[in-house]
Amino acid sequence: MPQAPPQPSSVSSVSAPRAALLKRAARDAMDYLEGVEARPVAPRPEAVAALAALRGPLPPGPTNPEAVLHLLNEFASPATVANGGGRYFGFVNGGCVPAAMAAAWLVSAWDQNAAFRVQSPTAIALEETALEWVRQLLGLPEGCGGAVVTGATMANFSALAAARHALLERSGWDVEADGLFGAPPITVVVGDEVHSSLVKALGLLGLGRNRIVSVPVDGQGRMRADALPHLDDRTVLCLQAGNVSTGAFDPAAAICPAARQAGAWIHVDGAFGLWAAASPRYRHLIHGFELADSWATDGHKWPNIGYDCGIALVRDPATLRGAMSIQAAYLHQGEQREPSHYNPELSRRARGVELWAGLRSLGRSGMAEIVERTSSHARRFAAGLRAAGFEVLNEVVINQVLVTFGASAKTLQTVARLQAEGTCWCGSTVWQGHTAMRISVSSWVTTEDDVDQSLAAMIKAARESN
Ligand SMILES: Cc1ncc(COP(=O)(O)O)c(C=O)c1O
Repeated sequence: MPQAPPQPSSVSSVSAPRAALLKRAARDAMDYLEGVEARPVAPRPEAVAALAALRGPLPPGPTNPEAVLHLLNEFASPATVANGGGRYFGFVNGGCVPAAMAAAWLVSAWDQNAAFRVQSPTAIALEETALEWVRQLLGLPEGCGGAVVTGATMANFSALAAARHALLERSGWDVEADGLFGAPPITVVVGDEVHSSLVKALGLLGLGRNRIVSVPVDGQGRMRADALPHLDDRTVLCLQAGNVSTGAFDPAAAICPAARQAGAWIHVDGAFGLWAAASPRYRHLIHGFELADSWATDGHKWPNIGYDCGIALVRDPATLRGAMSIQAAYLHQGEQREPSHYNPELSRRARGVELWAGLRSLGRSGMAEIVERTSSHARRFAAGLRAAGFEVLNEVVINQVLVTFGASAKTLQTVARLQAEGTCWCGSTVWQGHTAMRISVSSWVTTEDDVDQSLAAMIKAARESN
């Protein structure tokens, strides 16, 4: 006979075992973090194989929560990727600053639904404050509307939904009510090196992954201002602040004034690059992007807020509300901003709290320091690799480095050796026809010593490959 689930009879019968469990989890988490630098960055194949212990059918009855936690420590933890350490350089993955991590623990304890103010005044107050801090850090116009979402993919989606709303409204078409069948066409213009998540968002919005007009780019992936097509008030022009491989920025200052004049909606995918605005040293790179109508960025990349956290901002909040608002007799409409009228979700985690906590702890100078330190580490990588005789393919403008170790097969073998060896982790890509290894220095934890250890491992892996 399956056991009946335990029925909590009173608060005290729940709270003592729960407190013990949470204290144990906190201790386990701290032990994990203290040991993270000593782990191989990619988990060992044996650890990944041992995950089989966590599969299998759902047990017919309850399992003691302590035993559940034990299973996680025993089998799940060894198979994690150590991106909480200082030598994970894959994708564009940031770390998590302590205040944001601690806030995430509290957010789980609070278990707020951040859909409406009445469900969580705390979550909404902190989210709104955090959105305003993001706007200020990025140097964007006052009065922007915004949404805290799961990542830049959803931030691109949300901002482009606002663009779709605004452009079709100009033609007297209510896209939320009537859909896209029979709607006046919208042209979407992107650079040849547009991020795939933006193209995915266009597909989700019914604007079509293949209907885009693509603008040629230069060797760094920057849109060529001299190659722009005709723009008008039915055009969405998507610019990029920080290419995922090279870190390069589209020449916004050369493009935006005329695009605005033509009535185009300018959207900026600045998943990580927009944060260059936080540093007086790098701010010049985002000159002109403030002229756009919408921006997408991530908290979980450069600001190190932890997963998951993306941010959409729009110049005119009414456009985002037009795209996202939700009506039902039991839902609040009210005068004040309610997240659910600006976000794709209804029920949602209070991830604005973590954003607030992370930014509050960093302050302006802390955010600038992350941008400057990680970019300086990227230059150190590039210099070390060049000195060892390898070709760096990009101009290292921020925190991204692209390096080739020779022929394509040798580069791929080097990356595979490096990943298996475990000192650090980097991925590969093909950049404009050249197979390359990507180094993204995005974590607040990374030190010069991490860079030097990783450089030595890279050079060794390359010398052993052919
Ligand atoms: C330029 C750019 N845009 C969008 C994204 C997608 O971000 P996310 O994974 O947070 O959805 C990335 C991810 O690296 C990116 O670099």
